[in-house]
Amino acid sequence: MLKPCIAFILCSMMLLAIPLVHSIDQDPLAVEEWFKNLQTMTQKTTHLHFYLHDQVSGNSPTALRVAQSSITSTSPTSFGFIAMADDKLTSGPEPNSTVVGQAQGIYGSACLEEAALLMTMNLVFNWPQYNGSTLSLLGRNAPYHPYREMPIVGGSGVFRMAKGIATAKTYEFNTTSGDAIVEYNVIVVHY
Ligand SMILES: *[C@@H]1O[C@H](CO)[C@@H](O)[C@H](O)[C@H]1NC(C)=O
Ligand SMILES: *[C@@H]1O[C@H](CO)[C@@H](O)[C@H](O)[C@H]1NC(C)=O
Ligand SMILES: *[C@@H]1O[C@H](CO)[C@@H](O)[C@H](O)[C@H]1NC(C)=O
Repeated sequence: MLKPCIAFILCSMMLLAIPLVHSIDQDPLAVEEWFKNLQTMTQKTTHLHFYLHDQVSGNSPTALRVAQSSITSTSPTSFGFIAMADDKLTSGPEPNSTVVGQAQGIYGSACLEEAALLMTMNLVFNWPQYNGSTLSLLGRNAPYHPYREMPIVGGSGVFRMAKGIATAKTYEFNTTSGDAIVEYNVIVVHY
């Protein structure tokens, strides 16, 4: 009568341990071991949904201009400006909703014809099951288009060898302050 009970407890413990192991084993040998097992691992598809808060104004901005070109101030698209960001990612659109990660990286105006950004961002998650794992986003973001599609080119931690697509949709843009809240849907294939 005891055995099923013990088995259940062990199973539960293992289920709890698996995500932790994934997020902790980042030493070179563990990564090598992971690659050895790649052939036998099955692909997973993970869908993430969150809101990015690009705060450029106020006392505690999270995105700051770090460089510009000789024509940025006269260019209709602010061509050549570059910003460094550490933007908050939250589960809901409200600025006070649960923080699920950060978008850290560089974006800049890379188009003379229309407003369009080159995005090079690391999405760093702190959801318990993805804690410390990252996804690397590299793509074109034309902020006035309703949907922007950007490639996810890789990842780390539970997202090793990830490939996928991020779609961005502006939830709120304050034309006075420049602050934006952007809804992201990310779909990645990983192992
Ligand atoms: C979040 O902010 C809204 C107003 O924008 C407020 O109504 C709500 O109570 C706040 N929630 C928390 C948990 O602070
Ligand atoms: C995520 O990891 C950091 C350090 O690696 C730790 O301080 C934090 O408590 C962890 N958070 C969760 C939700 O596991
Ligand atoms: C837009 O930003 C301005 C300047 O920071 C602020 O005064 C205004 O309340 C903001 N508008 C909204 C709708 O949040």
